[in-house]
Amino acid sequence: MFDLPSGFPQPKVASDDPMSEAKVALGRQLFYDQRVAFNGQGSCVSCHEQRLAFSDGRVTAIGPAGDVHPRNAMSLTNAVYNSRQNWANPNIKTLREQALVVLLNQDPVELGWQGHEQTILDRLRADADYQARFKSAFPDQGEPFTLDNVARALAAFTATLISGRSAYDRYHDPTTPDRTAMSDAARRGEALFFSEQLECNHCHNGFNLANSVVHAGSKLDSTEYKNNALYNIAGPASGYPLDSGNYPTRNQGLYEFTLKAGDMGRFRPPTLRNIALTAPYMHDGSIASLRELIVDHYAKGGRVISEGAYAGDGSKSPNKDALMIGFTISEEEVDDLLAFFDTLTDWEFICDPRHADPFGKIPMNEHCKVAGS
Ligand code: HEC
Ligand code: HEC
Repeated sequence: MFDLPSGFPQPKVASDDPMSEAKVALGRQLFYDQRVAFNGQGSCVSCHEQRLAFSDGRVTAIGPAGDVHPRNAMSLTNAVYNSRQNWANPNIKTLREQALVVLLNQDPVELGWQGHEQTILDRLRADADYQARFKSAFPDQGEPFTLDNVARALAAFTATLISGRSAYDRYHDPTTPDRTAMSDAARRGEALFFSEQLECNHCHNGFNLANSVVHAGSKLDSTEYKNNALYNIAGPASGYPLDSGNYPTRNQGLYEFTLKAGDMGRFRPPTLRNIALTAPYMHDGSIASLRELIVDHYAKGGRVISEGAYAGDGSKSPNKDALMIGFTISEEEVDDLLAFFDTLTDWEFICDPRHADPFGKIPMNEHCKVAGS
């Protein structure tokens, strides 16, 4: 069921929710079907496009009803391996739970199923193609058209979005390494990324370049939330005392769930696979480019915002992680790091027809045409 890249562990699958080809195929259809939104004008693809590694290119997401989401739409790259889903929600573990949130969410409205559940299910039921698909995906059920089954099918498809065939992976393939896959610059960038000077790997580590992973063989919960000093709202315009480490309302990370002061601004470090395709960056899309992210944020040990309601120096936040120490970096080293990030783009994944729009309407990445011709 899973087409695993070399060296990738078997994903964890709930025993009461086994994977099947029929479920994945149904999930793919639903993922792209605009009729899945309450108003017939959106689905998962509204915010997760394959050409952008299943992100949306916007600063923060916009729902089919026009609701603005406070967060940046995440890449779905390897989401099946996340020990927790979302930027900072400790309560959502599985892809099925995540799909239910999106379907039912009222604040903001995403797919708007609340109060429209039967209408949407009737809409799907009226389609002969879905009649066959729901029956084969859930063969033991008399009435397979349910909210929960829609979520299960969407989760099964999302679980197959596994990416591990980038140039970086080919270079490091344990059995047949391709030593031409990375340039010297990209190799130097990789060494920098994993160096004690930059400390990046302490928060973005392992096969998924993300710490909070789970797979079939996991024994421990490795979930980690970190404050990477993006905000330290302080001063008269904000109403907060100096250097109190505050983050903007609705984007305060783990704190929103625990209300512990030390959890202010703690988010889950996400995977850096396919990162060159998922701009803008961070939970609120507030960093436009990877160059800016290295030079103006990480190198300074935190971001400085000099004016406006969010003014403050992130590097002075009392909540920032001890690893956020800052570093000096030359222009050439920045270029090397960017070359390394480019090698994390997995074109096989981005151009994989198994993940693409079955209705053939959503454009593929330009690069896929070149690769396919
Ligand atoms: C309105 C835009 C929007 C739509 C529609 C949408 N998403 Fe998302 N998605 C987001 C945003 C924003 C986040 C980050 C949310 C957060 O952290 O609070 C996200 C996060 C996720 C994650 C977590 C990824 C990770 O690495 O933690 C998964 C999985 C996901 N979405 C799947 C789906 C599926 C499946 C659908 C369709 C049922 C869907 N999304 C529809 C915007 C959207
Ligand atoms: C202390 C832990 C920590 C360290 C060290 C760290 N990061 Fe991060 N990183 C995070 C967290 C947490 C986020 C998400 C923060 C947010 O959204 O507010 C993040 C986000 C990112 C993102 C944006 C991801 C996205 O999808 O938008 C990139 C790129 C990134 N880090 C690269 C790096 C690089 C390069 C380094 C080394 C210079 C590094 N990180 C060091 C914790 C860390």
